[in-house]
Amino acid sequence: MASILFIGDIVGKPGREAVNKVLPGLIARRNPDLVIANGENAAGGAGITEKVLDELTEAGIDLVTGGNHIWDRKEIFQFIDSSEQLLRPANYPEGTPGRGSIVIERNGTRYCIANILGRVFMRPIDCPFSCANKICTAQGKDADITIIDFHTEATSEKQALAWHLNGRVGAVIGTHTHVQTADERILPGGTAYISDVGMAGQYNSILGVDPEGPLKRFLTQLPAELSITGGRKLFNAVFIDFEVRTGKALSIERINSIIK
Ligand SMILES: [Fe+2]
Ligand SMILES: [Fe+2]
Repeated sequence: MASILFIGDIVGKPGREAVNKVLPGLIARRNPDLVIANGENAAGGAGITEKVLDELTEAGIDLVTGGNHIWDRKEIFQFIDSSEQLLRPANYPEGTPGRGSIVIERNGTRYCIANILGRVFMRPIDCPFSCANKICTAQGKDADITIIDFHTEATSEKQALAWHLNGRVGAVIGTHTHVQTADERILPGGTAYISDVGMAGQYNSILGVDPEGPLKRFLTQLPAELSITGGRKLFNAVFIDFEVRTGKALSIERINSIIK
C-alpha cells in the first residue's frame, strides 16, 4: 500500500503557518509516502518565490503544484526550469518554462504527478483532456500511481476529467476554488476524486484574503487592494491510500481543521 497527503491552495503567510503547525503532526501520525501541495498563492496570496518554495519543502512538502497564478511573481522564471519540486500547469503552449508533470520515486513506488488547468470560467488554454491523455500514455505508463491536480473553477469540468480518466489514474484532485467540497469518493475504476481540496490560509476571509478588498470590488465594481492579515487559520487536505500493484485508490479522506 502507498499513501499521499495532498494540501489545498496554500494562501500567503497564514497558509504557510497553517502548514508549519499541522503538517509535522500529520506526517508523524499518518506517515504518508508523498506530500503534495498546491502553492500558486503561497507568496503573499499571489505566485511563489524560491524562498517560499524552500520554506514549504523544509516543512515536509515533497512537491508543489501550480495554477493560473503561478506566474504572478516575476522571479519564478529564474528558478522554475531548475526546480524539481515545482510544477506549473502542463497544458501551456510548448516551450513554456518549467514542467507540467514529473515522476517521483518514494519507498519503491513511482508516482507520476501532473498539474493541469481547466478551461471553463478560466483563460484560454490547451485542451486539458488531451493533455491528460498524453501524460497517461507517456510518463504515466512508467509509473505505479498517477495523480492529477486539476486546477479549475467548474465542478462539471472537474467531474468530467475524473470520469475521462476513471481507471487510468489513481486520483483526480481539484484545486483553485479554495473552498473544500464534501464529495470525495472513489470512482468505479479505482480513481479517487474530490472536486476541490480547499485551502490552507486565513479562516476569516474570502478565499484566503481579508473580506474588505473583495467586498469593495463586488459592491463598487472598482479595483481594490487585497490584503491578508492573519488570525485563525484553515487547513484543508486529503489523505489517499493506493494499492501499488494496480495503481488504484483504496480510500480518500478529507482533512478540514480550523486552527489558532
Ligand atoms: Fe489558488
Ligand atoms: Fe487558481
